[in-house]
Amino acid sequence: MLDLIVAVILAFFAICVGILLCGDCDIWTFMHLKFGKDIASRFEGKVVWVTGASSGIGEGLAKELVKVKNVKIIISARRKEELERVKKECLELNKSTKQESILVLPFDMVDYDSHAKALEKIVKTFGKLDILISNAAAMGQYALWEEAPISTDKALFDLNVFSLVNLNRIVLNYFKNERGRQGHLAVVSSLAGKLGVPYLTPYTPTKFALHGYFDSLRHELRKMERIHVTVLCPGPVETNIFDNSMTGTGARFKDTMLTKRPANIMTAARCAELCLTSIANKLEESWMAPLPNLPFMYLAAYQPFLYSKLSAFMMKFFVVDEK
Ligand SMILES: *[C@@H]1O[C@H](CO)[C@@H](O)[C@H](O)[C@H]1NC(C)=O
Repeated sequence: MLDLIVAVILAFFAICVGILLCGDCDIWTFMHLKFGKDIASRFEGKVVWVTGASSGIGEGLAKELVKVKNVKIIISARRKEELERVKKECLELNKSTKQESILVLPFDMVDYDSHAKALEKIVKTFGKLDILISNAAAMGQYALWEEAPISTDKALFDLNVFSLVNLNRIVLNYFKNERGRQGHLAVVSSLAGKLGVPYLTPYTPTKFALHGYFDSLRHELRKMERIHVTVLCPGPVETNIFDNSMTGTGARFKDTMLTKRPANIMTAARCAELCLTSIANKLEESWMAPLPNLPFMYLAAYQPFLYSKLSAFMMKFFVVDEK
């Protein structure tokens, strides 16, 4: 009997290690990708609001969602022209989607007064909102910790954290008042929201803050059962923002050597697929990145001491020391 138990446990760990070494997402998300609810069935007929939809992951999410039957998509960001481009490309991806199914709703996330009005407009247009995917964020700058001015920290927290918290509060209150209906808040954090990343402050701390806000909220909502919170943690994701821009010589950026992308950057499409699968299955948190990111994440989470030693060792190779 004991042998059997040990064998089962060993087999379980072997499978986990296997997934970790081949998959591009955490084990639980991977299981749901294979055996869970699919995107098409969970999002059918839903009204989904994506912020930060003018490029990168947000754009990828819109383009993945447009494949779903009867879905209504609201795309938000600051730049209206870019949103119109995303809408056009979405309509090209699925010719049977009606113009009216995609609402372009531009606004500036740090203009807090626009949040309630934006939600109002959505409810007026589609009659409801089911899912908010908050993806708007700025990277800020790559800088030395001691050199960034405090104004940068404040501005980045304003955009990446406070504006998002304000918008989610408004939407959460709307969900709470819609008795008997399901609501879902999904927030795009980052692998940088789970462990410190050198030269990436204050971006990294803003992502940490999101976990504090939304993990706490998830506990507060436990009793409600009809409102869900998902925090998504992608690693580096390519954006096609440069694809069609020209370089100084007039060559398309895409065709130059510069864009030979490293193999371990995830495409926006794959990232969107994983994010939507996670939301479809109401997962609490999902990590997604190609090798070798995730084994490090697990190491950092479960073996901090080993992770610390290993990362100190690796920093020797990747970081130029300036003493
Ligand atoms: C396109 O959109 C229509 C209408 O929402 C939907 O029924 C269909 O499944 C979608 N097809 C594809 C291939 O994306």
